[in-house]
Amino acid sequence: MNYNKENINIFKNPQILAHNLAQSFIDEIDTNQSDKFSFALAGGNTPQIFYKTLSLDQYSRNINWNRVLFFWGDERCVSPESNDSNYKMVKESLLNNIEIPSDNIHRIKGEHEPHRETRRYSDLISKLLPSENDLPVFDFILLGLGTDGHTASLFPDSNNLAIKNEVCSVATHPESGQTRITLNLPVIMNARDVVFMVTGKKKSNIIKKILINRKVTSHYPASLVLEKRENVRWFLDNEAGSPLIK
Ligand code: 6PG
Repeated sequence: MNYNKENINIFKNPQILAHNLAQSFIDEIDTNQSDKFSFALAGGNTPQIFYKTLSLDQYSRNINWNRVLFFWGDERCVSPESNDSNYKMVKESLLNNIEIPSDNIHRIKGEHEPHRETRRYSDLISKLLPSENDLPVFDFILLGLGTDGHTASLFPDSNNLAIKNEVCSVATHPESGQTRITLNLPVIMNARDVVFMVTGKKKSNIIKKILINRKVTSHYPASLVLEKRENVRWFLDNEAGSPLIK
């Protein structure tokens, strides 16, 4: 697996990381020439501080939100009012605090029958995004990392990892059994910019396995994203990135 050390950014704490990632996000939008900028958001807890920071006036006023299309990298198959909903988390940490047309928000409808919703969402993405390599191209995909090496809802050794030509698929959380809908690996790897945001001591071991041991394996789905892409960027805090700090 090849990656550039310069793509690994380590910051003292999650708040400083979030400020730097917000500025990097703005830089990506500003350099993007197309009239729309498609952003696939990460779920879970880690990115909340980034979303809250991005909605601060010092960043938000520098973003033309009319250009930004929001999608989700994965969603739990729950109501959008559920505390488990990634949509609800983004709504509370970002969408409620910015002026963005509701037509720009394309949530995964976790309350719908999963297979039908997977088809709907895949068709929507294919319709709204440009295509390269016969796959839709996101401008920016933000990903988290589980301690087991999962990313989005692509779990270790799952059948989803072998899917080649479907944009999204239905997944099952290996511990909770919760049904999820997730972007598949080929679409993630097809994005212009792929950024992992990883914080906290409990993630240091998986960071070591992926970024130091450099194992590319279906046991750690996040490592498969690196298999064919050099320009994956990492935003880590000191705790998660401790194995990389000399
Ligand atoms: C989700 C995410 C998932 C998350 C990791 C890390 O829906 O939960 O998409 O991939 O990024 O599980 O979660 P934390 O940020 O909560 O540690």
